[in-house]
Amino acid sequence: MELDELIAMSWGWRSSVLMLQAHSAGMFDALAGGRKSAEEVAASLDTDPRSTRLALIGLCGVGLVEKHGDTFCNTPVVERYLVKGVPEYRGHVMDLDRRSLSNWLRIQEVMRSGEPIPKQETTDEQALAWQETFILAMDGIASQRVDSMFKAIPLKDGDRFLDIGCGPGTYIREFLKRLPKSEAVAFDRPLSERVVTDTAAKAGVLDRITFRGGDFITDRFEFSEPFDGALLSQVIHILSAGQAEDLIRRAAAAVRPGGFVAVHEMTLGPDDNPGPGAVFAVQMMLGTAQGSVYTVEEISGMLTAAGLVVESTTRTDEKSEVVVGRKGM
Ligand SMILES: C[S@@+](CC[C@H](N)C(=O)[O-])C[C@H]1O[C@@H](n2cnc3c(N)ncnc32)[C@H](O)[C@@H]1O
Repeated sequence: MELDELIAMSWGWRSSVLMLQAHSAGMFDALAGGRKSAEEVAASLDTDPRSTRLALIGLCGVGLVEKHGDTFCNTPVVERYLVKGVPEYRGHVMDLDRRSLSNWLRIQEVMRSGEPIPKQETTDEQALAWQETFILAMDGIASQRVDSMFKAIPLKDGDRFLDIGCGPGTYIREFLKRLPKSEAVAFDRPLSERVVTDTAAKAGVLDRITFRGGDFITDRFEFSEPFDGALLSQVIHILSAGQAEDLIRRAAAAVRPGGFVAVHEMTLGPDDNPGPGAVFAVQMMLGTAQGSVYTVEEISGMLTAAGLVVESTTRTDEKSEVVVGRKGM
């Protein structure tokens, strides 16, 4: 890295923070549908006109808003994805990132204490609301990877599969649309049920999904018949290596001989080249007591320890990979 890049990195948080704040303040909603003056935006948000105008100009500077004389409008990508209520809305991830931002400002504190930052929710209602926001954010992220995941996972039409820590059920839902004779079980915390069933119903696949609420740290995945395959996508990083190995063993026990277990993770590169997924290590430091980021070799070792033979490793984006282990006949 050169000095210029170092200075640019120090400045760089401004664009992200401005986007997260503008989203949270409803600025993109206020600009939806066409050009508005700063005064009109300020009136609809009940904010100070001068400050609002300067924030709008700042948003032009980071490429999220366009300026036309005295008026402003969203750029096409913002209009399509970040205005609340649009069909392709992806703003949930911004709610998640806004909370992450406040946690990342506490890195030094957590480095000293070794204790993850406690969740902010104190009531059941708050916990449900946050779980739904969290997994809807996951939906936005996972939706970008559906095609690469589908290519990486050896599912055939008619297979029954289990998605452990399914989140919003993005992969189940999208895979079932492509596999009209398949069925699946979605396993996650009970709080996730409403989002999984609502999104599956909208996609027209709810009749082929069973939701099972539980705790993947302790539960056995016992169902009437074994599955053809099980998926663990972006879940083992919450766990210690020992807990992850135990979870993979229980997942392997739930699949038939000849079936598979697929582990999808933001992986750490080999020792001297951790790669872009390594940044996620900090997220695990701040948010979990025992979580970590794992290399493909470590994940392969966990699959092997569960009695599976690793048959493929496929990259799904610049940070994540899927490792598939096959159970003997
Ligand atoms: C990072 S999200 C991954 C969601 C989805 N698999 C994906 O790839 O988009 C992790 C999921 O694990 C679930 N989870 C975390 N701890 C759990 C536990 N102990 N038992 C069941 N589910 C859990 C969360 O509710 C969340 O849906």
